[in-house]
Amino acid sequence: MRVLLLGFGAVGKAFLHLVEGQREDLRRRYGLTPRLVGVVDSKGAAISNQGLEPDKILEVKEKEGTVGALPHHGQTRTDEGLIEECRADIVIEATPTSMTNPEPALRRLQAAFRTGKHVVSVNKGPLAVALPALLELCDYNQVAFRFSGTVGGGTPMLPWAMECMRGDEVVRIQAILNGTTNYILSEMEEKGASYASALAEAQKLGYAESDPAADVDGIDAATKLVILANHVLGKPARLDDIHIEGIRDIQLEPEGNTRMKLIAEIGKDLRVTPQRIPADSPLNVGGSLNAITLTLKTSGEVTLVGRGAGGPETATAILRDWLDIWLTHPNQRERGSH
Ligand SMILES: NC(=O)c1ccc[n+]([C@@H]2O[C@H](COP(=O)([O-])OP(=O)(O)OC[C@H]3O[C@@H](n4cnc5c(N)ncnc54)[C@H](OP(=O)(O)O)[C@@H]3O)[C@@H](O)[C@H]2O)c1
Repeated sequence: MRVLLLGFGAVGKAFLHLVEGQREDLRRRYGLTPRLVGVVDSKGAAISNQGLEPDKILEVKEKEGTVGALPHHGQTRTDEGLIEECRADIVIEATPTSMTNPEPALRRLQAAFRTGKHVVSVNKGPLAVALPALLELCDYNQVAFRFSGTVGGGTPMLPWAMECMRGDEVVRIQAILNGTTNYILSEMEEKGASYASALAEAQKLGYAESDPAADVDGIDAATKLVILANHVLGKPARLDDIHIEGIRDIQLEPEGNTRMKLIAEIGKDLRVTPQRIPADSPLNVGGSLNAITLTLKTSGEVTLVGRGAGGPETATAILRDWLDIWLTHPNQRERGSH
């Protein structure tokens, strides 16, 4: 199966390492033989319909800073025309998420669908603004679209929630969807740290960006909540539908046996707000962990906990989605392994 990889940073590189490490296993267990036909970064692209050598791609990125410098196959173009022209079966979208502008990723997803390519995306930006339209477009073009790495990183929150819904009904979702804010709140409450020093520590550990606004203002969690609402509950929600309060100005006073958490919630309405939860709640996870509790009509509460981010972890979500497409999409299996 021919793959075009958009974005070659922490997640993109981890994905290439993961696939190469499992190449023999993928062939033996699933009959899948991956062929990398293109990689695009911010400065250029390397494209070969015959296939690129992953070691050479990693080497040229390391030495020259862009895959566009690859001899014979490198180029400086990065526009969506590349996606239309490339003879890939599947496109992996792993370019940076922008909360304010879903482009150019949105145009690229549309170009992939229009030209009959399956897509796995870990970039949540375009999904937050246009998920219902994207799902319609991929149905129309009879291709598959998976995005399990956009919520929970490698922790399979979306597929798990879908599985929980079979034969039951989700009546409420409560979740901790942002590891940075969970780390900051845990440090403040458990170690008495100030907001500023907990944030500085989160940045030192690589949990928080140098501009932490999307995390601490609750936008990142709200974006993931939009994806959960659309995908799991079929609610055509958008970011504007969510009441959002972040933790930037939070003051913590100890209050009984409770812990302060940034909770993303779908109940009567959609909200991301700092809330106190009982200390013995399964949602009371420490450090940068993520957690999600579904309240099911018949089975009651079920909770999934795991790391919400990390390059290698998120790369496993991409491979999981890819295998899901390979194993379940009849058109793809009929075309065979290229
Ligand atoms: N890292 C995580 O833990 C994690 C978890 C879940 C989801 N995600 C999502 O995964 C995506 C990638 O994250 P990351 O951590 O790998 O980011 P990253 O390390 O910053 O890498 C981003 C890659 O995208 C490339 N890029 C930037 N603008 C581009 C453009 N216009 N066209 C083509 N390529 C472009 C960059 O090129 P250069 O190399 O030239 O700069 C870089 O290779 C993001 O959407 C993120 O939200 C990440």
